[in-house]
Amino acid sequence: HEQRTSLNTVTAESIGQEITFRCRIHTIRKLSANLAFVVFRQQLGTIQGVVHQEEGTITTHMVQWVERIPTGSIVIVRGKPQEPEQPVTGCTKHDIEILVRELHVVARRPEAVPFTVYEDEVSRMKELDEDAPTKASKITDRARLNHRILDLRTTTSRAIFRINSGVCNLFRSYLDSQGFIEIHTPKLQGGATESGSSVFQLDYFGRPAFLAQSPQLAKQMCIAADFERVYEIGPIFRAENSNTHRHLTEYTGLDFEMAIEEHYHEALEMIDRTLKHIFKGIYERFGPELEFVKRHFPHEDLVWLEETPRIPFKEGVQMLIDSGWTDEHGDPPSPDEDLHTRDEIRLGELVKEKYHTDYYILDKFPASARPFYTMLDPEDPKVTNSFDLFLRGQEILTGGQRIHDAHLLEERMKAQGVDPSSMEDYMDGFRYAAPPHAGAGIGLERIVMLMLSLGNIRFASLFHRDPKSFPP
Ligand code: ATP
Ligand code: AMO
Repeated sequence: HEQRTSLNTVTAESIGQEITFRCRIHTIRKLSANLAFVVFRQQLGTIQGVVHQEEGTITTHMVQWVERIPTGSIVIVRGKPQEPEQPVTGCTKHDIEILVRELHVVARRPEAVPFTVYEDEVSRMKELDEDAPTKASKITDRARLNHRILDLRTTTSRAIFRINSGVCNLFRSYLDSQGFIEIHTPKLQGGATESGSSVFQLDYFGRPAFLAQSPQLAKQMCIAADFERVYEIGPIFRAENSNTHRHLTEYTGLDFEMAIEEHYHEALEMIDRTLKHIFKGIYERFGPELEFVKRHFPHEDLVWLEETPRIPFKEGVQMLIDSGWTDEHGDPPSPDEDLHTRDEIRLGELVKEKYHTDYYILDKFPASARPFYTMLDPEDPKVTNSFDLFLRGQEILTGGQRIHDAHLLEERMKAQGVDPSSMEDYMDGFRYAAPPHAGAGIGLERIVMLMLSLGNIRFASLFHRDPKSFPP
């Protein structure tokens, strides 16, 4: 059982030592009957291998056998790091190569592939640099999503999903440090929480059940049960027939809920600090990944401020009106209705001009735009104690204070056509007294898409679910 080397750790200091490693074959370049260059790939890195006919070790037959291994196959290599005759181009390691002594195939690729990771790299270089060498034609987004495994092998995807994991870890570790506990709530539910039209219904032993649109009810029930501070990272199902760049039918929610003392802004400030911790952590820890992503999705780093601008919804609408913004019928936006995507994007531009930030808070949403559980502003019941957070002009989070008074809650449910008898357990939480509380939910794929300017939420989802792509 040999010690396996990670190619990451191979440096000039490894010269002369013998190493063994497992990797994929990235490319093969045949130079003569006696010599081939084989590029090996592990995770985000590539290194050049030299297979050279040599008395007593490597036969000509072996050189020719190696040349015929399909790229993408998995091999074990034993060899010696050495200084290349000239700096290597096209690999992540430029000043070192491997003189191959032995090569065994672990898994040979049996099928032809629509595209290889190498072609992906060349195709991306071509997008950025007209003079880049290319045999490959541009790989379309459709091809990437249709052949997901191959696309996930590319450095761009690898970097995206490392960052995706980083966002979850940073969310978790920050809330842990603030006294929260992680919970896991049921995804099989008896009723709808966000709006009745967007639930997936299924048959639960002869009775109707729904896939959870949000952990909303369960996280509030935990507060009623005195958990004080909870968060969850889990799946969310939305039966919205929204074929957009930013909607999925199944996505990952980062949710939290906390008891508050005086004001719902305690929760707003908690999530604001959490998000800034996430942004900072990603830029500090994922430098190489961000560079890989930028090669395919060129963008500016995110700009955020120490003090996040907190703009009342009404004022945001006024900024739009003052800029002469109207809908397709020439009507200005209304402070009593939710904004549309294009309004949000425009407002993001106006906020960027005024405050020089890609990240801001819109507070005090109109009651008409919020679900039954949202606390109304005691001073103006047309607005709510609730907020959305925006990144590069698009929504990443919704949150707010919840109604904790059982009578008021029933009233609001009736007003919105929600039947309290469909959620008796939830109602019990308030009938038995619950503390004032507030919370919020983030869409993981949404925040990753916007941080990295991917332009399409599907690239931030491993195996995306949308209304058109039904899994086989
Ligand atoms: P939330 O559900 O909390 O509001 P969200 O960002 O998904 O989060 P939605 O209410 O689903 O927001 O929709 C927000 C915006 O997306 C709306 O302004 C709506 O106009 C737009 N939108 C939704 N579906 C579509 C669609 N199929 N095509 C174009 N725009 C859409
Ligand atoms: P909301 O419905 O706004 O709020 O969802 C919260 C966040 O989830 C993301 N999101 C989506 N991401 C991908 N595809 C979708 N179809 C989709 N829909 C929403 C967005 C959004 O900001 N219960 C409340 C949260 C709360 O108040 O705690 C809720 O679910 O990033």
